[in-house]
Amino acid sequence: MSTHIGAQAGDIAPLVLMPGDPLRAKWIAETFLEDARCYTEVRGMYGFTGTWRGHRVSVQGSGMGQPSLAIYANELFREYDVQSVIRVGSCGAMTERVAVRDIVIASGACTDSSMNRIAFEGLDYAPVADFGLLRAAAEAAGVSTGSTNGTAHVGLIYSSDSFYPARPELSARMVDYAVLAVEMEASALYTLAAKHGRRALAICTVSDHLVTGEETTSQEREQTFGAMVEIALEAGTA
Ligand code: HPA
Repeated sequence: MSTHIGAQAGDIAPLVLMPGDPLRAKWIAETFLEDARCYTEVRGMYGFTGTWRGHRVSVQGSGMGQPSLAIYANELFREYDVQSVIRVGSCGAMTERVAVRDIVIASGACTDSSMNRIAFEGLDYAPVADFGLLRAAAEAAGVSTGSTNGTAHVGLIYSSDSFYPARPELSARMVDYAVLAVEMEASALYTLAAKHGRRALAICTVSDHLVTGEETTSQEREQTFGAMVEIALEAGTA
C-alpha cells in the first residue's frame, strides 16, 4: 500500500487511464474493462484493474488540480512501477477553432502553477506529451495530417490552478500563442512522467466553451467521454 492508494504491488497494470472524477473511473471500468476489480477506495478515489482486448489496464481517479493529480501520479510511478498514464478528462475551449464535444489531444501543457516554478527555481520547464502515445492517439482519433480533422485537435493546452480565475483576460492571452483549451492537471502529469522516465498523455473532451458560453449536456458528455476513452485505450495498447 502506498500513502494514498490502497493497492498491493502487482495490483495495478503498467497502463493507467486517469480521469479526474473517481466515479468516471468506475464508469470506465464497468463500461470498457472485462473482469474489473477495485483495488483502492482510499478517500473515495477509486482505482480498478481489468482487461481490454486482452491487455491489462487500470483506471485511477486523480481528483481535481495539479497537487491532487501529483499525489496519485507520484505513487503510481514510484511504488507501482506504472509505465504509462493517459489522462482522460474534460476541458474548456478557449478559442473558436475548437467546439464543444471536440477532443483535444495535448502535445504540451502551459501552466500558471507554481509547482514547476519552485522545482526549477524560476526556470521555465516545457511539459510535453510522450511522442509515441501522442502519435498513436492522433492516429486513433483520425488526425493524420496537420493538427486537426475538424473535431479532434492536437495542440497546446493550459493547465490552470483556478477553475474560476481572478483575471480571465490573462488566461485569454494564451490563445494568442496557440493554446486551444484549459483544464487543471496535464502539466503536472507530463512533468512527473518525464522525471520518472515514463510515458504520459492527456486527452480531453470539450465540456464547455469559454468564448461562446456553450455547455454540453450530461448525456453528450458521456458519449464524447466514451469516444475519448477508446482513443486512450487504443493509444495505450498500440
Ligand atoms: N476551466 C478549467 N478546467 C476545466 C474547464 C474550465 O473551464 N472545463 C473543464 N475543465
